[in-house]
Amino acid sequence: MELPFAESWRIKMVEPIRTSTRQEREEWIRQAHYNLFQLPAEQVYIDLLTDSGTGAMSDRQWSAMMMGDESYAGARSFFRLRDAIHRITGFEYVIPTHQGRAAENVLFSALVKAGDIVPGNSHFDTTKGHIESRKAFAVDCTIDEAKDTQLEHPFKGNVDIAKLDNVLAENADKVPFVIVTITNNTAGGQPVSLQNLRDVRAICDKYGKPLVLDSARFAENAYFIKTREEGQEGRSIKEIVLDTFALADAMTMSAKKDAIVNMGGFIATRRAEWYEAAKVYCIPFEGYLTYGGMNGRDMEALAVGLDENTEFDSLHTRIHQVQFLASLLDEYGVPYQRPAGGHAIFVDASKVLPNIPKEEFPAQTLTVELYKEAGIRSCEIGYILADRDPVTRENRFGGLDLCRLAIPRRTYTDNHMRVIAAALRNVFERRDEITRGYRITEEAELMRHFTVKLAPAE
Ligand code: F0G
Repeated sequence: MELPFAESWRIKMVEPIRTSTRQEREEWIRQAHYNLFQLPAEQVYIDLLTDSGTGAMSDRQWSAMMMGDESYAGARSFFRLRDAIHRITGFEYVIPTHQGRAAENVLFSALVKAGDIVPGNSHFDTTKGHIESRKAFAVDCTIDEAKDTQLEHPFKGNVDIAKLDNVLAENADKVPFVIVTITNNTAGGQPVSLQNLRDVRAICDKYGKPLVLDSARFAENAYFIKTREEGQEGRSIKEIVLDTFALADAMTMSAKKDAIVNMGGFIATRRAEWYEAAKVYCIPFEGYLTYGGMNGRDMEALAVGLDENTEFDSLHTRIHQVQFLASLLDEYGVPYQRPAGGHAIFVDASKVLPNIPKEEFPAQTLTVELYKEAGIRSCEIGYILADRDPVTRENRFGGLDLCRLAIPRRTYTDNHMRVIAAALRNVFERRDEITRGYRITEEAELMRHFTVKLAPAE
């Protein structure tokens, strides 16, 4: 008999979690104004709000923390981190930051000015925010296939090369750089192929533009390149990662994802002039250049995490779990962005709750239903997150309305995946009874999803 697949680690420390009653949850979610960000974490059984900073560190990472050098300047831990980043990515210059959006803030302060255009593939909201807050424009050039959740495509995060070429042909003088997000979180944790990155590089070269990679999940992206792209299966993750970054001028990194630390990030680049320009902003925003918002011990754990999570077994264990959850949803007929992404399943709420009008926020309704069903906290990536049009102040109903089940790394077991799938199945099976969604009673002008208050629609 062929032996079944199993995790490439065993568990040394556990954290108790507890279930609750439906009655408790109904009361708690009401108190939270039907916004899952407002729930105390203790009221959650399985927390799938994000895979960011929620992973379990390894024994090697914890032991590295004891070696942290907390010197204000020139800490040994910084040099260790810089050398690890150089070895893994090939980039020579490194600026540590406290998280990914801080890396964006520091780098974009040096590179982006009012009126600029930054093309890319479904920029993440903080990336877009750091572009738009500088009165510049983020132009999405993701392939159209990404918009059809039921269409199978091995690299649904890819850039549409013709769209990118058009943007550059018309606006080359306004483009400071092109940014590609690997994996493409907003499109469903979907990967970008090495060939697509080569094609993007060729367009960048044609117009003399640099390329930045938003690399929060670069290791998961390399896993998909290895397992899906022709000619790559025999290569190691570390080789593919080096090839990936060889195509870019710089990276911004949220280390809370693929480096499996709870907090941290960095900028890395091969351009000395970018390093010099960004340095100026690191000091006032983040801190001195050899810590940039991180403790010495955090830099140690980050260096180890980067190394560990660019090994095949680690990534295979992780992605296998996401795909296991997807296989259960397939069995139950629950529709999601296909194929399953690297860090999450994005359930297509418009198909799960067909009776909820878009004005009553189907994906948000699904997050609430799933919480009430089993204490699972998911995240709306849909019409509430999309905010209002800045000019017309109308809700933006043009994109997808998804409920994201983000899977923290090395945190939950496959039995938790079974609970998640069963809970979704139960909601899906009583979809005909779910006919009312939610209306907004209070909202912020920007990034309203964090603090929005809702009430059941009448
Ligand atoms: N880029 C991508 C692709 C991201 O997914 C994130 C964060 C960031 C940048 C910003 O990094 O949080 O360290 O400041 N994504 C989290 C998520 C929050 O839940 O997807 P950060």
